[in-house]
Amino acid sequence: MRKKIVAGNWKMNLTLAQGEQLINDILQAGLRLKEGQEVVVATPFPYLQKAKSLLKNYPGFYVAAQNCYSEKSGAYTGEVSAEMLQSIGVDYVILGHSERREYFQESNAMLAKKIDLVLANGLKPIFCCGEPLEIRQAETQNAFVAKQLEESLFHLAVEQLKQVVIAYEPIWAIGTGLTASAAQAQDMHAFIRSQIANKFGREAALHTTILYGGSAKPGNAAELFAQGDVDGGLIGGASLVAADFVAIIEKLS
Ligand code: G3P
Repeated sequence: MRKKIVAGNWKMNLTLAQGEQLINDILQAGLRLKEGQEVVVATPFPYLQKAKSLLKNYPGFYVAAQNCYSEKSGAYTGEVSAEMLQSIGVDYVILGHSERREYFQESNAMLAKKIDLVLANGLKPIFCCGEPLEIRQAETQNAFVAKQLEESLFHLAVEQLKQVVIAYEPIWAIGTGLTASAAQAQDMHAFIRSQIANKFGREAALHTTILYGGSAKPGNAAELFAQGDVDGGLIGGASLVAADFVAIIEKLS
């Protein structure tokens, strides 16, 4: 039985006090997670330790960084290493978000290096993939996503791959209010799982958690999460509102 996860990506939002309030409001909702269900809160770097301490007595609740650097350590002013994240108790690291690919020119090759460093430090990658609107309109999204998987993940050993959570985020649905239909999400998730099966075998593919991200909201989460190959969501805007984030978590099957 693969993990079912709802992860909240705060991006570059909230002060520390606002973030603390948000986490407390989420915890006050009294969510009762089932076996195999996880909630992940991806805060900006400065809040990770506080988030970890607020969540430490709540089984099934984890903390994610939104990035790490592609080198082990050294003279890289302003950067944060996977080892640093491990040293403060971070659990997951989001890698390859489309906003980082766009604004910081992160390539599939660079992301392969980040994946290796995250795994080497005992952390779990949440690897983001997904196509821009023009690719979807050209109906070449499968080839586009397959290339992202091949160039960033296919160098891994099977046991390493099984530590990776994949997040499919169609760029045209991120922050736009334009959500992929449940059928579109299921089609791509099934394709991603087939690509994993072809490379790493059926057992690894069935084990792999694949999240959907892109304007997931309380009103569409149930239909998305009901899809056979959708194992939860990577939530942006709705994760900044406790009631909405809780409502999405409650839609996990
Ligand atoms: O990483 C999740 C994010 O990209 C989705 O954003 O606001 O469309 O839920 P949003």
